[in-house]
Amino acid sequence: MSAQIVMLGPPGSGKGTQAGLLATHLGVPAISTGDIFRSNVSNETELGTLVRGYMDAGEYVPDSVTNALVRDRLGERDAVEGFILDGYPRTLEQVAALDAILEDQGRRLDAVVELVADHTEVVDRLLLRAQTQGRLDDTEAVIRRRLEVYAEQTAPLARVYGERGLLVDVDGTGDIDQVSRRIVSALA
Ligand code: AP5
Ligand code: MG
Repeated sequence: MSAQIVMLGPPGSGKGTQAGLLATHLGVPAISTGDIFRSNVSNETELGTLVRGYMDAGEYVPDSVTNALVRDRLGERDAVEGFILDGYPRTLEQVAALDAILEDQGRRLDAVVELVADHTEVVDRLLLRAQTQGRLDDTEAVIRRRLEVYAEQTAPLARVYGERGLLVDVDGTGDIDQVSRRIVSALA
């Protein structure tokens, strides 16, 4: 099975959950820009200070910051055999940056898995997570903004990758194992 994979989908569609499962299945790292940013925020690093305001408001971190971070991360040893990118790319500029990073490394994407789940489902999941994990961007107002930003800036990426023949649409509803099995069989 191919191992250079992007997970696409709105907030709450299950990108992080499924990226983790697929990464274990394939023996490659799951790389989440959101997780990297959050750990920098909680460790109060310089990067954390820079990105916190964007994240708390549900806005995207500037492309220049995110692209540099991903270039470094994809250059690490554990990503040589492949990776599952969760939450990157999210803008057309990030698509171009990822193309350039991979071209420099002499490789290319194998597939872009788009998790499809409707508005009510993803909002319910995020509100439920708000009660258990307290992620600062899981408030109703910020969830609404995250979904808007996704629709404006990231949803168009499905078409771009579709035109390249890389897009694999997967139904993201149902239980976690069911979705995971759908992804594995769609990629086979
Ligand atoms: P990021 O951390 O990527 O958040 P997100 O895209 O808003 O998505 P979530 O992590 O909320 O959802 P998910 O799709 O990963 O679903 P999950 O598996 O967690 O980004 C956060 C912020 O960082 C951005 O707003 C931005 O500021 C910044 N950022 C990150 N990347 C960036 C980039 N490339 N460019 C610029 N800025 C960037 O599942 C959600 C919940 O549902 C969980 O509780 C889970 O347990 C549950 N769940 C999962 N699957 C199921 C299921 N099948 N059934 C029931 N519940 C389920
Ligand atoms: Mg996530």
